[in-house]
Formats: sequence, structure tokens, C-alpha cells
Amino acid sequence: STIDWDVVGAEIGDHAHFLIKEIEEQPTTITRALAGRLDERFSTAHLGGLNLSVREAREFRRVKILGCGSACYAGDLGAQLIEDLARLPATSEAASEFRYRNPVVEPDTLYVAVSQSGETVDTLAAVQELQRKGGRVIGIVNVVGSTIARQVDGGIYIHAGAEMSVAATKSFTSTVTAFALLALHLGRIRDLSPTDGTRILEGLKRLPEQVREILTLSDEIAEVAREIAPSPSMMFVGRRRGWPVAREGAQKLKEISYIHAEAYPSAELKHGPLALISPEMPTVAIVPDDDLLDKNTSTLSEIKARSGPVIALAHRKLPVELADRTIVIPRNEPELDPILLSIPLQFLAYHAAVALERDVDKPRNLAKSVTVE
Ligand code: G6P
Repeated sequence: STIDWDVVGAEIGDHAHFLIKEIEEQPTTITRALAGRLDERFSTAHLGGLNLSVREAREFRRVKILGCGSACYAGDLGAQLIEDLARLPATSEAASEFRYRNPVVEPDTLYVAVSQSGETVDTLAAVQELQRKGGRVIGIVNVVGSTIARQVDGGIYIHAGAEMSVAATKSFTSTVTAFALLALHLGRIRDLSPTDGTRILEGLKRLPEQVREILTLSDEIAEVAREIAPSPSMMFVGRRRGWPVAREGAQKLKEISYIHAEAYPSAELKHGPLALISPEMPTVAIVPDDDLLDKNTSTLSEIKARSGPVIALAHRKLPVELADRTIVIPRNEPELDPILLSIPLQFLAYHAAVALERDVDKPRNLAKSVTVE
């Protein structure tokens, strides 16, 4: 198949907003993130810019990911991919927090800085602090030749093209895709079997087509968005891989529609936020059809018992006793499902913002990249 390189640019064309254009570009941008990087012969990923020999890459005992906003949430998914596929302990943290707490920098930790723009001052400062203490830092960056891209010791460009709208969309899914490649690479030089490597490779190849399928849900999600638009507040819940998806979904809604949203790991609901659940507080629940499905459906029962409206994102339709609405999306491998699950939430935020007549591409008080402290 040929890649339509032209759509990935700074022209709005006949789209109402850059944001919707960038959401719809994702089959292409994910294809670009994968281009030339899938090594089918050895069931691994080729990442030419890492600047790490296999020997060096095998020395790492931990991975620490740093970024701000959506980049940090993409990092949460990256950490889970690395733990799952490479069995290395991995965590993600806001770069702004990391840089100000005199972090312990270890020689056997691989540090990963994530930034769409490559210009976020807190992320850059974290990289510089790490390097000053001898830390090895790679970047996952969109803008080629940006400050962070030049500062790091190696990395992965996501090649998502210009992202004009303030809210991150295509850069989020492409960053998670890049993490999947990194996790595959780190896994295959450790204990990930060729069979599992191939399973992930095949899953990655299916993504663009599945994203195309999800794009056809735009009108259905617009209807849901018009229903929730009058709500003063929304809850987003998920567990394990669904939890960063919930955080990113809440962030999208807040930043472009100005509807207050909270994100919680599903099991934490009963430790406080369940008190907020009422008919006035809809919940978006991330409910993939995985080994935690039973746990997730019991969370939905708890919410329904308090008359909270539920919108579920799932791989098959849930009974109405559990969810008032189910948005059904195609499934991939469990490790890669979060990439697909995050896209309906981009649509939800977009259509809610449109229904509320917000300035979608330039939300109040926000900047595309925060280059001052
Ligand atoms: C700003 C943007 C966010 C973005 C964050 C990090 O706050 O509004 O959408 O996620 O910066 O930006 P970066 O360019 O470093 O990914």
C-alpha cells in the first residue's frame, strides 16, 4: 500500500478544525511511525537512531520515562509495554516533578524523554539534569531537529508531521506506537520469544486499518458527546492499560471542552471518588475484553448502583444493566489495544467541544508547547 504523505502537513484543507484533521490522519501517521522499522525475519524492530549497541542495551535494569501532559500519559503506556514485553521495571513521571526533586540518577537505567514539540522547557531541563549526572537519555520526539532531539543521546522520531492543534492527538498514538517498537526491540534482545515478537509485529501492522474502522464511529460518538456536553463533570476510569487511556481521555475533554473531568484507576473508585457518582456525573469506562473484564464489569455495577450514567469503551456490546452506551471498537493484541482505545476519546472531546462552541484548536489559557517556566 502507498502512504499518502501529502495529508500529513500544516494545511487545514476542507476540515473544520486542525484537531479533526489530525485525528483522521492517524492511519497514516501510525503507518509512518512503523515505516522501515519492522524486522519480520528476526521478529523485532529496527530503530536506527537509538545509538545503543545490543550489549549496551542489555545492561539496562530499569527504564524511566519523562514528559509533560499527554507525553507523560503516553509514557505511562510506554512503561507498561516495556514491562510487558522486555520485563524491565519501567515508570513514567512528569518531567517537571522529576527535575525539581534532586533525582537519583543510575547508570543502569535507560532514560526516555518524550516530547512532541521537542521544546518543552521542563522536559529539556530534566534531560540536561540527567546528562549532567551521567544518565543515558534517548528521546521520542516528533519535531526533527528540535532542541530536545538535539540534546538527547539518541532516539526515535515519530514522523507524525506538523501537529497544529494545541491538544495532542496523532502525536499521542504515534508515541505509544514508538514505545511498542522500543519495547519489542528491548524484549527481543532479552527473553521475548520470536513467536511473541511476531505476534506484536503482526498486531502493529493491523493498526492502521483498525484505526480507519474507528474513524467511521465519529458520528456515533458525536451523539454521545452531545448527550454529555451539558454535564458539569465527568469521571474516566480504567485499570492497568486502561488507566493511562482514561487519564488521557479526561485530559482531552478538560483542555478542549472545559468540562471538568477526573480520571481514576477503577479499583480506586471505592477509596473516595465513588462519593461523587450520581445521575449528574457520567462515567467513561475503558473495558477491554481481557483477563480483567470481570473486575471491570464489577466496577460498572458499583457505578450503576449509584445511578451513574456509564459510557463503556469495549470490544463487544455490554448489557444495558452495566452500560447505557457501549462504543464497540476492534481489538488488537492486548498490549496494543490502548492505541485504539484512545481514539474514541479524542472524538468524544472534539465533538463535546464543538457542541459547546469552544475554540477547539486554541483552547483558552493553553499553549502548544510550554517553553517558559
Ligand atoms: C502542552 C500541550 C500538551 C502537551 C504538553 C507537552 O501543555 O498543551 O498538549 O502534551 O505541552 O508537549 P510536548 O511538545 O513536550 O509533547
